[in-house]
Amino acid sequence: MKILVINGPNLNMLGKRNKAIYGDKTLSQLDAMLKKQGQSLGIDIVNFQSNSEGGLIDFIQKHSSKANGIIINPGALTHYSFSLRDALADSGLPIIEVHLSNIYAREEWRTKSVIAPIARGQISGLGWQGYIAALRTLVGELKGETWG
Ligand code: DQA
Repeated sequence: MKILVINGPNLNMLGKRNKAIYGDKTLSQLDAMLKKQGQSLGIDIVNFQSNSEGGLIDFIQKHSSKANGIIINPGALTHYSFSLRDALADSGLPIIEVHLSNIYAREEWRTKSVIAPIARGQISGLGWQGYIAALRTLVGELKGETWG
């Protein structure tokens, strides 16, 4: 099983960027943590980050046919990128949208996600743990685990 973990614009700056909001872990630390979680779940994680909308779309188009699900933090593209939304929807894969910060507790323009309607679900405000929760949930569902 293979899960694509995709981070959008400015998330390469984690660890330097507004630590009070985004925490002090770097993207490489986050990627390493997800790889480790992937190993313990017995699955492959492919990490990708781009600052460009086209770069993200090209990656999704190229890799989704060999993947089972996508975890994505689209950064600010969350709020307006219909082309990213279309690429994610066209992949036909289950998508979990993740945000480090709580997008509903910040500026008004951040409260709208154009990705959420095509996602399996959204996790917002749990910091890096949100990615781990998304991974465990997605893999659990793909393996047909039932809860409760
Ligand atoms: C973010 C929230 C977005 O509004 C912002 O533009 C980001 C990061 C988050 O992880 O909280 O770049 O997606």
